[in-house]
Amino acid sequence: MEEKKIEIKLTVCQSDELPEADKHLRLAAIEAAKRAYAPYSHFQVGAAILLDDGAIIEGNNQENVAYPSGLCAERVALFAAGASFPEKPVKALAIVAITDGIIRPSISPCGACRQVMLETEQRYGHPVRILLCGQDETVVVPSAQDLLPLCFSWD
Ligand code: THU
Repeated sequence: MEEKKIEIKLTVCQSDELPEADKHLRLAAIEAAKRAYAPYSHFQVGAAILLDDGAIIEGNNQENVAYPSGLCAERVALFAAGASFPEKPVKALAIVAITDGIIRPSISPCGACRQVMLETEQRYGHPVRILLCGQDETVVVPSAQDLLPLCFSWD
């Protein structure tokens, strides 16, 4: 029997010390969160995607009275990017949550969103940097692969 350890690297930084491009992406995610449709959870999530030509695509959670019919912010943004700009690789994704008008400490995406992020990475052969943005601190994960160790794949 052999015990193995899987480690991931994260960077934790002050949100106001992020590089300008990341600050901009964080602000886009905040604006997106403000437009979320979350009448059931009142948990507003925003996602902003940076494409490799510099364009930013935003998404937010879209809830539904038939709960499973709703979708998380990350997938709304990723599917919108894939639908409109399938040829453009995704470079980064910022995520933020707001409740009662206040930006929450950084949140981490659900398993289904991680799976979609991972496929985006594999599709373009390019890591997607993930910024988990809080009011004060932002956690930077270098790639979706880091968030989904031992993931499913055909091979
Ligand atoms: N939600 C997201 O949009 N992204 C996440 O990373 C976590 C959860 C949404 C789903 C639901 O609309 C609400 O937040 C509460 O779970």
